[in-house]
Amino acid sequence: MMLSNPEIQHAYLTLLRKCLTNTLHHNEPDHDSAHLASFVHQFTNHYINSNAVSMLPKSRFDNLEYCIDDVIRNNIPGDFIETGVWRGGATIFMRAVLKAKHVTDRMVWVADSFEGLPEPDAEKFPIEARAHAGPVMTKAYQHFAVTLEVVKKNFSDYGLLDEQVKFLKGWFRDSLPTAPIERLALLRLDGDYYESTMDSLVNLYDKLSVGGFVIVDDYGEAIWTYCRKAVDDFRSSRNIVATLSQVDSKCFYWKKS
Ligand SMILES: C[S@@+](CC[C@H](N)C(=O)[O-])C[C@H]1O[C@@H](n2cnc3c(N)ncnc32)[C@H](O)[C@@H]1O
Repeated sequence: MMLSNPEIQHAYLTLLRKCLTNTLHHNEPDHDSAHLASFVHQFTNHYINSNAVSMLPKSRFDNLEYCIDDVIRNNIPGDFIETGVWRGGATIFMRAVLKAKHVTDRMVWVADSFEGLPEPDAEKFPIEARAHAGPVMTKAYQHFAVTLEVVKKNFSDYGLLDEQVKFLKGWFRDSLPTAPIERLALLRLDGDYYESTMDSLVNLYDKLSVGGFVIVDDYGEAIWTYCRKAVDDFRSSRNIVATLSQVDSKCFYWKKS
């Protein structure tokens, strides 16, 4: 039986996301597990100590694909960016969707320090500072530090390192204000902390086209980050009232109106 083009596209992207998230042969950990110690153990084994190149659950890949489909179908102009990429998996997926849909006039921007999370100010952000210095972040997750060379190699291993992929190395507060990005259709925020989230919004939101999407990976996460507060502060400072929709218990998004 011959597969149609949309069926081939679907099969490629389904297989790809399983490879990126180490879920081809293994179930993903329960991201809503109430048992913190067992979750950290599962998360570390499944993502950190494996060939996974993204730590996003499947629901967030579905949401990413939905947003990309929507902006392409509605001709919303602009590139795609993720701020906070770890091993690069979500941005590899963005590039793959463009390739599968034969889109050649949009870039994928890959923004990260490529040396892990910044140290939060302990006075302003005490729960972030505590988590940052604790054993889970320092030992198990190693502050999510991955070098630029490793991320480029991951793109290359998946056959997706080309001129439609641009890397922005540095702390967001330094790299984003001068980034040569003209316009965005998709802004995916995954820098975890208050300042990382705020630096991304302040420097990139005005470049987002109307009809484009902001996805906030950690909006629902309250135990170790003030990400939600950064988003709420930014939205209220700009009088943004567009509905925040829920992807899963942690990830939320809105469409710029
Ligand atoms: C949770 S990981 C991202 C996970 C990734 N999106 C995925 O698909 O697996 C957070 C990333 O944000 C980066 N990061 C956080 N704050 C940053 C900042 N202010 N400047 C640059 N990079 C930052 C870290 O280096 C790390 O790679």
